[in-house]
Amino acid sequence: MTMSPVLDVVIQAPNGSPLQAVLKLFDRRFGEDLRRVYKQSACHTPAREAAFHAFIRQGKMAPFLREVDEAHETELIPPSPAGFLGEGTEGPAKYEAAQWRECREHFRCETKAYAQLSDLQGELIPRMLAHVRLVSGGDFDVPPDLRETGAPYFELNGILLERIDGYKLEDMTSLLTTRPPKNLKEWQIIIQAAANAAHVINERGILMQDASPRNVMVDRRSQTPRIIDFAQCLFRDELVDQWHRWEWQEDEEWDPDVEYWERARQQEDPAAIALVH
Ligand SMILES: Nc1ncnc2c1ncn2[C@@H]1O[C@H](COP(=O)(O)OP(=O)(O)O)[C@@H](O)[C@H]1O
Ligand SMILES: [Mg+2]
Repeated sequence: MTMSPVLDVVIQAPNGSPLQAVLKLFDRRFGEDLRRVYKQSACHTPAREAAFHAFIRQGKMAPFLREVDEAHETELIPPSPAGFLGEGTEGPAKYEAAQWRECREHFRCETKAYAQLSDLQGELIPRMLAHVRLVSGGDFDVPPDLRETGAPYFELNGILLERIDGYKLEDMTSLLTTRPPKNLKEWQIIIQAAANAAHVINERGILMQDASPRNVMVDRRSQTPRIIDFAQCLFRDELVDQWHRWEWQEDEEWDPDVEYWERARQQEDPAAIALVH
């Protein structure tokens, strides 16, 4: 639970054999890193949840979301959930509301990335098995008066992914004792394949903002890497739209292709995965 709760699950189809999968949920209540405010964790508490309920009850959710969405479209550095926490008496409610939006955005990014990379599923990234929605009620204690009007704010989105049986690239060196490579060339091939996969993903118009060896699973049997975790990424089509809104095309020499690859070069996804830091 760094950003999202992730669970190993077994799906039992009526007449099929059990299927091992990974369920990733986008739930604002959990995630040590998601809820980190500076060096502390702004835990989910009954008081914060009650403030969030009051915010929804007063009809403040929709205007707040519009305001934050607009800031994300126009500002170079848009507001983060943590920034709302100190905003007076409504701070805690706005913090929960902004985290709800953040989780919705993570789900949108992750599902859009998997769709855009559909031909790489099962090869460079896991297979997307299903989009999941847990409807209102469940384990949330939703007040009766919010069950209808507030329903979207208590639904949880998630994804069901093919489970990669193996180890994280990050943990490779700790395998030195348990599974030493026959020769170091074997490791070099895996690491280079992960860097190449990141470049292919960049070529498909996706920049990962969380590229790291912890977001690479190496399949134990084939010893080939799969990139995971597209909850935080940038899409070329959305970047180009934004650059147009900022009227960068007014400069005749400006080329969105060059801009995109300049951005990719600054971000260095392949290096973030494969270089020793
Ligand atoms: N398809 C998968 N197969 C095996 N393990 C996975 C898979 N997806 C996620 N995991 C495990 O769950 C952890 C968290 O998943 P991730 O998508 O990186 O979520 P977060 O956004 O919380 O970092 C990963 O580091 C990995 O250990
Ligand atoms: Mg991750």
